Amino acid sequence: MKIAIGSDHVGYAMKNELKAYLEGKGHTVTDLGTHSEVRTDYPVYGKAVAKAVTGNDAQLGIVVCGTGVGISIAANKTWGVRAVVCSEPYSAMLSRQHNNTNVLAIGARVVGIELAKMIVDAWLNAEFEGGRHLHRVNMLE
Ligand code: RB5
Repeated sequence: MKIAIGSDHVGYAMKNELKAYLEGKGHTVTDLGTHSEVRTDYPVYGKAVAKAVTGNDAQLGIVVCGTGVGISIAANKTWGVRAVVCSEPYSAMLSRQHNNTNVLAIGARVVGIELAKMIVDAWLNAEFEGGRHLHRVNMLE
């Protein structure tokens, strides 16, 4: 799968670890920054990943900031993006099955890297169920 990934400075280390994790599973990961721990602004990277997903440069996006909140809000400003911030796998899975989320946000100050990997796995392994959920997702647009 082609996955775009991005973070601010707080999420930089987790973003890099998740990138390596995903590549180890055979995914193609496009890293849209940030590329250091120098303080920067999460809206830049939330938007960059959102544009990659809606522009079909990536099928899905993963974004990381301190809480996952700011960068998820930023991603959701792009039409066609359904970003969810998750700190446990159950919501990550259901967000795909019912809400067809296409961007996953994680808070690097909220969860550790091993839980983050479990959240990512739950999200990637789930599929949109369509049916009654499709009608509701279409209403979002
Ligand atoms: C940066 O200090 C912090 O505000 C950011 O990483 C994120 O948590 C915002 O939602």
